[in-house]
Amino acid sequence: MSVMPTPRTPTAALDVDRIRTDFPILSREMSGRPLVYLDNAATAQKPQAVLDAVAGYYRGHNANVHRGVHTLSMEATDAYEAARRKIQSHLGAERVESIVFLRGTTEAVNFVAQTYGRSRITAGDEIVISAMEHHSNIVPWQLLCEQVGAVLKVAPIDDNGDIIVEQYEKLLGERTRLVALAHISNALGTINPLDTLVPLARRRGIPVLIDGAQAAPHTAIDVRALDCDFYTISGHKVFAPTGIGALYIRPEWLDKLPPYQGGGEMIRSVTFEKTEYAPAPARFEAGTPNIAGAIGLGAALDYINALGLDAIERYEHDLLDYGTAQLATLPQVRMIGTARRKASVLSFELQGVHPHDVGTILDQQGIAIRTGHHCAQPVMDRFGVPATCRASLAFYNTRAEIDALVAGLRKVLELFA
Ligand code: ALA
Repeated sequence: MSVMPTPRTPTAALDVDRIRTDFPILSREMSGRPLVYLDNAATAQKPQAVLDAVAGYYRGHNANVHRGVHTLSMEATDAYEAARRKIQSHLGAERVESIVFLRGTTEAVNFVAQTYGRSRITAGDEIVISAMEHHSNIVPWQLLCEQVGAVLKVAPIDDNGDIIVEQYEKLLGERTRLVALAHISNALGTINPLDTLVPLARRRGIPVLIDGAQAAPHTAIDVRALDCDFYTISGHKVFAPTGIGALYIRPEWLDKLPPYQGGGEMIRSVTFEKTEYAPAPARFEAGTPNIAGAIGLGAALDYINALGLDAIERYEHDLLDYGTAQLATLPQVRMIGTARRKASVLSFELQGVHPHDVGTILDQQGIAIRTGHHCAQPVMDRFGVPATCRASLAFYNTRAEIDALVAGLRKVLELFA
């Protein structure tokens, strides 16, 4: 079935005070103060609409999908497949069969490594990634390289955290079988210039995977305009439950990829001698799926589309600029990640204070940030730091919360003076 992407018309500015009331957890207090949640790149909070969709499924429609002729099973199947169509529309995919539900981006990258990779990549072939990748877009390729004897090549990044395009291009060769890149870096916030990077690979006939885990909460995605072969999203980063995500597969691959896992639901017929597999997407979804998660993901996409991704992008861009400027008022702050185009992430060191101490003292003031290597140890190595402090924004964050962060950092500095 072909569904056109939802038309995206410019939307009104966000009413953030009202939006915050959609997220019950944002009214919590921490250490006797209002919660300031600035760890959205790790996981985002869930609006009531998502909580209601998940609870509503369990309350009124819980049954297994694709298995029963009874009414509940048909209702559950309808809701699950409606969620798949929402994701198709959200990503601008040509066909609904191109959307596979998986646990998240980590599983999606492993899926591509073990289906496309195991069937198409052999000894001496090359896979190109970048130096800013999350471990989930590094380790699955290393496992594949060990399994088939392929070689991992890494495009370097400059001191701002931008991919060095000329050097990336030089890595694309006769033996390159796949390029796998983040859309937006979780550790640096860099928005990669996919309109340059993807065509450089596609022109040479090289398939491209985009890790969209950090992009989906912040920007509109159009897999056809991107011209990528695989695109992954994680539900929990995009205001949906944990344990659900989706992989877009370019239609031309659907019949070519072998199954990922074996089990129920992914078969057409089974005998002890031979199993015939079902067509996509069932072939790629062995076992009972995360039905409630998929429905929650559909509800989350409805929620952000109702706000408008262009409005979200404008608002967050302004907030990121404000945050960058406010952090710059502290001479002890060294920003890690100053790319030309950035989204959501303020990663920094506070001179003389270990990031874990910064995180702990901020927590005592009700402010949640992430400290550590952010599952991107090679990025830390590139910038010569063991860890950073990372404040990561969502559309429900406010300038007042940035001010609270900066005031909190001033207190940290006082304690360590
Ligand atoms: N990938 C997640 C992060 O960046 C967990 O924090």
